[in-house]
Amino acid sequence: MRWLVTGASGMLGQDVVALLRSRGDEVTAAGRADLDVTDAAAVDARVAGHDVVVSCAAYTAVDAAETDEAAAFAVNATGAALVARAAARAGARLVHVSTDYVFDGGATAPYGEDAPLAPRSAYGRTKAAGEWAVRAECADHLLVRTAWLYGAGGPCFPKTIARVATERGGLDVVDDQVGQPTWTADLASLVVRLVDAGAPAGTYHGTSSGEVSWHGFAQAVVGAAGLDPAIVRTTTSEAFVRPAPRPAYSVLGHDALAAAGVEPIGPWRERWDEAAASVLGVPVSG
Ligand SMILES: NC(=O)c1ccc[n+]([C@@H]2O[C@H](COP(=O)([O-])OP(=O)(O)OC[C@H]3O[C@@H](n4cnc5c(N)ncnc54)[C@H](OP(=O)(O)O)[C@@H]3O)[C@@H](O)[C@H]2O)c1
Repeated sequence: MRWLVTGASGMLGQDVVALLRSRGDEVTAAGRADLDVTDAAAVDARVAGHDVVVSCAAYTAVDAAETDEAAAFAVNATGAALVARAAARAGARLVHVSTDYVFDGGATAPYGEDAPLAPRSAYGRTKAAGEWAVRAECADHLLVRTAWLYGAGGPCFPKTIARVATERGGLDVVDDQVGQPTWTADLASLVVRLVDAGAPAGTYHGTSSGEVSWHGFAQAVVGAAGLDPAIVRTTTSEAFVRPAPRPAYSVLGHDALAAAGVEPIGPWRERWDEAAASVLGVPVSG
């Protein structure tokens, strides 16, 4: 099987490439410098000859997208459409990664895979448009929504929290947004397992199970960094305003994985305990 990974230098892309290479699979790792997904001719030429395309390229600057939605749309919607069209032409399976930001965050029970899309941010709108493009352009797609990603290969919440906690000795973190912290290595494994299993085309949720607030996750991070979790104080989204609205409730259900017989990622806390040393790059407290 010949794999192409777009956005291969990103936080998720790096882990997908590393996993595939560790198995001895044939992988073309295309970072942005190798393949700009907004360049239709380049996309066609790159996708040809591959059996599976894992689309990790995205405009992920959630706040910047509020003032430059066109730039986000070019990558997250137009780029997604071009990759999907090229995959269909090449007869390749497409794995496309999307986000919890396509939902409004107002639910009180986990979002099902077929819950209505109602993005509240520019980034979310462009990712929702990308989902529609993928469905329209490439029938053989695995659309995998994820959320609250952290990993060794990029800037992420745990790294920021550990740094700030160490520097300042205390910090305020919102406790009115809940979600499912998800390790990029776990999502990479899920993507590969979905393809290996020949899972039916459709939409899947690739997040850890359970739920926690950013405050609760920050406490787990600070504990792993060897500091007292009590130094993490609570604040609210109202007091900590950012340009793009954040979903209050970002918990995704995993029914489609169960129906396909594919093992979900597992509880967020267990997965964090497993991930912490490699993500923080230091030995962690047990
Ligand atoms: N991080 C999260 O918490 C989160 C949550 C939900 C969903 N997701 C989704 O998960 C996927 C992976 O995200 P990530 O966290 O790995 O993001 P990331 O680290 O920002 O990686 C995205 C990669 O795409 C590249 N890229 C941007 N524009 C491109 C273009 N025109 N052509 C080709 N490549 C381009 C970026 O390159 P540059 O760095 O050079 O711009 C970057 O290497 C994305 O689809 C994202 O929407 C992420």
